[in-house]
Amino acid sequence: MTVLITGGTGYIASHTAVILLQQNIDIVLLDNLLNSKAIVLDKIELITGKRPTFVEADIRDEDSLDKVFAQYNINSVIHFAGLKAVGESVENPLSYYDNNVVGSLRLLSAMDKANVNNLIFSSSATVYGDPERLPLDESCALRTTNPYGANKLQVEQMMSDLCNSNDKWSMVALRYFNPVGAHESGLIGEDPNGIPNNLLPYVTQVASGLREKLSVFGDDYDTVDGSGVRDYIHVVDLAEGHVKALGLFDSVNSSNEGIGFEAINLGTGNGYSVLEMVKSFEEINGIEIPYQICPRRAGDIDSCYADASKAFTTIGWKAERGLDEMMRDAWNWQSKNPQGYEE
Ligand code: NAD
Ligand code: UD1
Repeated sequence: MTVLITGGTGYIASHTAVILLQQNIDIVLLDNLLNSKAIVLDKIELITGKRPTFVEADIRDEDSLDKVFAQYNINSVIHFAGLKAVGESVENPLSYYDNNVVGSLRLLSAMDKANVNNLIFSSSATVYGDPERLPLDESCALRTTNPYGANKLQVEQMMSDLCNSNDKWSMVALRYFNPVGAHESGLIGEDPNGIPNNLLPYVTQVASGLREKLSVFGDDYDTVDGSGVRDYIHVVDLAEGHVKALGLFDSVNSSNEGIGFEAINLGTGNGYSVLEMVKSFEEINGIEIPYQICPRRAGDIDSCYADASKAFTTIGWKAERGLDEMMRDAWNWQSKNPQGYEE
């Protein structure tokens, strides 16, 4: 069995690749290196002792996908490839629809031709928009508020429609909450381009002196201390969720009848505020994080955290790592790689 991983040299994919290799599962990583670097392959090899097969290609290039399916004995795909900056998606929606929706369409079409029927897709809690209720379970209303979120929802819809059209398909949309942290080795981690949009990469860059102070976006939300609350999940826990989800396909391989479409939240179920995150980072790493309270960021919500019980009942997964490990590993990665991956 070989698993094709699109967006394979990216942040979450590289952590997933490590676990799959450590479990002796064959993988092929495919990426166009738009938002990642080939040096990630060396790092994965350093951690696992195995060099993953790599194909430099774009998921929108169906000929390349056809060749990959013809060359390798692939029976499942984990689809991470895509653009992920919400603000950029508002400014340049066409490139987001092209990359995220058209790219996924091409991938599904190549899978159909190659009779590869098992897919795990990187969805996001962003599909819930302003939460109907908390904690968010998979039956909550889906109402996105930006093109990036719309892309995720449209791909989920394509997956669900395909499953309705033919019972050969098994398609799992994993809705991630807020991935943070890095592999404990400090060899792989998140390497944001330019000024980080997300909280923890910003905090670690303040800690390393790259940025002067953190802007806390709002202290007047209806939360424990007025700052926004999110469900932060360690990236290695998240990666393990993908490996567990692959187990759903085991029964399919023997019966040829797919499991259909499933959407599953991957979160811890715990919400922490921005100020709680800052305090936790300071305590765990012994570094002060200067911050200032700023106006709310447009489009932000008060609170977002998961009901993660479906992940436990369907794939036997729950997050194991707490805030301490998230903070320790995020800082370990940043302090060892202050400029991110350097080639
Ligand atoms: P990332 O940018 O590190 O990884 C995505 C990878 O896809 C990159 O290596 C990039 O080069 C590649 N890529 C982009 N477009 C491509 C294309 N057309 N063809 C081939 N490769 C392409 O991002 P990540 O944080 O690892 O996110 C992975 C997935 O998870 C994305 O789909 C993202 O939307 C989703 N997601 C991420 C988060 C998060 O906070 N990181 C949260 C929810 C969902
Ligand atoms: C953002 C994306 C979401 C994506 C998620 C994980 C938006 C509107 N949403 O969500 O689609 O799935 O990242 O990648 O961009 N904060 C600060 N100062 C900062 C940065 C963030 O106070 O410099 C606060 C935010 O206001 C928020 C919390 O920290 O309350 C988390 O922010 P962030 O890491 O950007 O994640 P989300 O906003 O949840």
